[in-house]
Amino acid sequence: MTEQWRRVCRVDEVDAGQPVGKIVGNADEGDLRICVVRRPGGEFVAMLDRCPHRDIPLSRGLVKDGVLTCPGHFWRFDLATGERSDLPEVRATLYPTRVTDGWVEVSLPPAAPRRSMREWLLAQARANDGRLRRPG
Ligand code: FES
Repeated sequence: MTEQWRRVCRVDEVDAGQPVGKIVGNADEGDLRICVVRRPGGEFVAMLDRCPHRDIPLSRGLVKDGVLTCPGHFWRFDLATGERSDLPEVRATLYPTRVTDGWVEVSLPPAAPRRSMREWLLAQARANDGRLRRPG
């Protein structure tokens, strides 16, 4: 599978200081919440609209000086890298963007192949083989 470019929002929907949250996807792949931000230089940044701390939409945060502040507990994320400003090993998930015909498009990773519950259970059993034993 290859990456997919998806239209997320119109360019003129995104103000410099206010992120835009949208849902993209379809029933086959599942929906993804995407947050789009305009950086001070004018380029667009797209990220998973979910704080890595808790399930709070980053699109409800504020953007200032190239940093997005989460409304949950005020973690701050650098829009160039997605890194938390005071703890760089924690980062928001960023996606490549491009502008086409007035739309911000985001390159999403290919969807993971779906497995049935039976396939998943069998894979779990194989992974646990030899590790789960009845007490003797
Ligand atoms: S939910 Fe974002 S900092 Fe806690």
